[in-house]
Amino acid sequence: MAGVVKVTTAQEKNLAPVMANTNAIAQVAPSPAPPNNSLPALVPLPQSLKSLPGEALTKLETLVFPANLWAEAQYLAAEIAQQTGKNLSLVKADQTAGAPAGALVLSWSTTPLAAEGYRLQVQSSAMTLVAQDKAGFIHGMQTILQLLPLQKGKAWKIPALEIEDHPRFAYRGMHLDVVRHLFSVDYIKQFIDYLCHHKMNTFHWHLTDDQGWRIEMKAYPKLNTIGSYRAETLVGHFKDQPAVYDGQRYGGYYTQKEIKEIVAYAALRQINIIPEIDIPGHSRAAIAAYPELSTQPDTVWNVATTWGMYNRQNNVLAPKPATFQFLETVFTELMALFPSPYIHLGGDECSKLWWKQDPKTQDFIAQNKLGNETGLQTYFIEYVGRFLQTKGRKAIGWHEIAEGKLDTATLIMNWGNEKTAAQCLQKGFSIIQTPGKPLYFDHYQSLDPKDSLAIHGYNPLEAVYRFDPVPPGMNRSNKILGAQANVWTEYMGHAQKVNYMVFPRMTALSEVLWSGPGKDYGAFLQRLESQSIPRYGYWNASWFKDYRKWDLSKKPAN
Ligand code: ACM
Repeated sequence: MAGVVKVTTAQEKNLAPVMANTNAIAQVAPSPAPPNNSLPALVPLPQSLKSLPGEALTKLETLVFPANLWAEAQYLAAEIAQQTGKNLSLVKADQTAGAPAGALVLSWSTTPLAAEGYRLQVQSSAMTLVAQDKAGFIHGMQTILQLLPLQKGKAWKIPALEIEDHPRFAYRGMHLDVVRHLFSVDYIKQFIDYLCHHKMNTFHWHLTDDQGWRIEMKAYPKLNTIGSYRAETLVGHFKDQPAVYDGQRYGGYYTQKEIKEIVAYAALRQINIIPEIDIPGHSRAAIAAYPELSTQPDTVWNVATTWGMYNRQNNVLAPKPATFQFLETVFTELMALFPSPYIHLGGDECSKLWWKQDPKTQDFIAQNKLGNETGLQTYFIEYVGRFLQTKGRKAIGWHEIAEGKLDTATLIMNWGNEKTAAQCLQKGFSIIQTPGKPLYFDHYQSLDPKDSLAIHGYNPLEAVYRFDPVPPGMNRSNKILGAQANVWTEYMGHAQKVNYMVFPRMTALSEVLWSGPGKDYGAFLQRLESQSIPRYGYWNASWFKDYRKWDLSKKPAN
């Protein structure tokens, strides 16, 4: 990563003891507890899991795979070796007549399966994984890894069973903000591994905002030399008075080479990365680098050092030829790095104040008959949306972009509530659900005043588990593509804090998205404890431990 000036922030040092108070840091990887019946505890719960007659499988020696699954087979063999210490021999074979003894066989399905689905059969002598797309194989591999011991050298005993499995929703994602705080390339890969393990398929990477520009841009180098660094960072909570700053320069960005490496890493794991460049608001880092793109070109803007800029500090792009040229160039560079069919252009919390105050912006609104500032917001989104379309991509943005009369080909990410979701559906949009309650993982998961600092709110594990992306009575459910949780990192100065905030809530979300309705929270907690928590330990990831205490029976004061 280019020029990370300071990764250990003062905030991070302050937070560490608070996290220790809640006993959140994993010390050792505990072994999975034995499941309380003969069927293994799997998360997310498969659509169908049944016992087969016969003895358990106790030994695997070879991994047999068709040539066109070479990379996936290597991935699985490496994961198995790392987890169990067992090195399987890799055997390329396009056709297998039955599974040879001691083999784990990957085989393309000859009968139709649901998209991303797989079928797994375990018998005393062999294991067979069948799928019809690479995603199905990758998801089935995660199930295999859950069936194997999470400890090197431990004996295997996998009961004979059959699993038929596929996801409930096509879009299953996690977002990560790398602007407010920056995370290493290794951690981004680790985060992608977390998604993959949870059978998710989308990583929404929030790359630009008021507090920094985190992607290398060749055509506009000042985005990096100026826009990627802030002079200092707010300490403590945004609402604390007086505001205190740490006085330390902070920043950096991912080079294009690193981004290509991360995209390839994710692709093998069947994770699509949707990059986000947030416009036309949330653009303070861009206008700090290029003030001529702002409504006050003679101003020297700083890269924001505080949080929550909405209506408080100017952070919008001005509508002028230089800005539209900038947008075309930046999104062209972005598309060259990310193959994603969808490109996120933000569009949230665009303050109208600075456009109202600027006579040139008002002239632009009048000349283009946009009516008002909301019309201008739509103009920006449709301008970039059309540009993306000419390159075969589609625009996605936060739900505020649907305020005006926007082309319904745009995909909407609803971070509001059921009402905003219903409004978008009514207008004919397809949506992805990311409601603040309960899918903002920057909110507290307890009401303990000693809990590690978070933005506000109470989104406990149980609320996430009980969330349904399709609320009762909502029609047009086929237009709800799925959901994701958002991880804004104002109060997450280091990777273990991110882990603490996402685990175990991400595990609950994975089951919401994969397994479908009719879920049993008590049974989930048992599977979480026998399957997922040992794996957090295996990953050396911290997690929030008091989830049983902090359930939905506890209510915030107001
Ligand atoms: C958002 O939380 N402003 C998308």
